[in-house]
Amino acid sequence: MIVCSCSGVTDRDISQAIAWMRASDAYTLITPGKIYRALGKAPRCGGCIRLFVERMRSDDRMEVPAELQGLRQPAPATLARAG
Ligand code: FES
Repeated sequence: MIVCSCSGVTDRDISQAIAWMRASDAYTLITPGKIYRALGKAPRCGGCIRLFVERMRSDDRMEVPAELQGLRQPAPATLARAG
């Protein structure tokens, strides 16, 4: 299925780029821009971004690795302002 008609990116292209990036570095942050770059393409109009991100999110390899889940700390309490 064509996801980006400007650049001819398919859902399969996205899946293959994610697989390649995960195989290269299991902890890399994968963004739409990196996928375009990996495919040697570039977005033009941006009209596909919602579908593009949906396709990325539907890929099991986009999950945060188990050992990295739960690392987020609550924001520190707001510092009292001098005044
Ligand atoms: S449809 Fe993807 S950039 Fe235009």
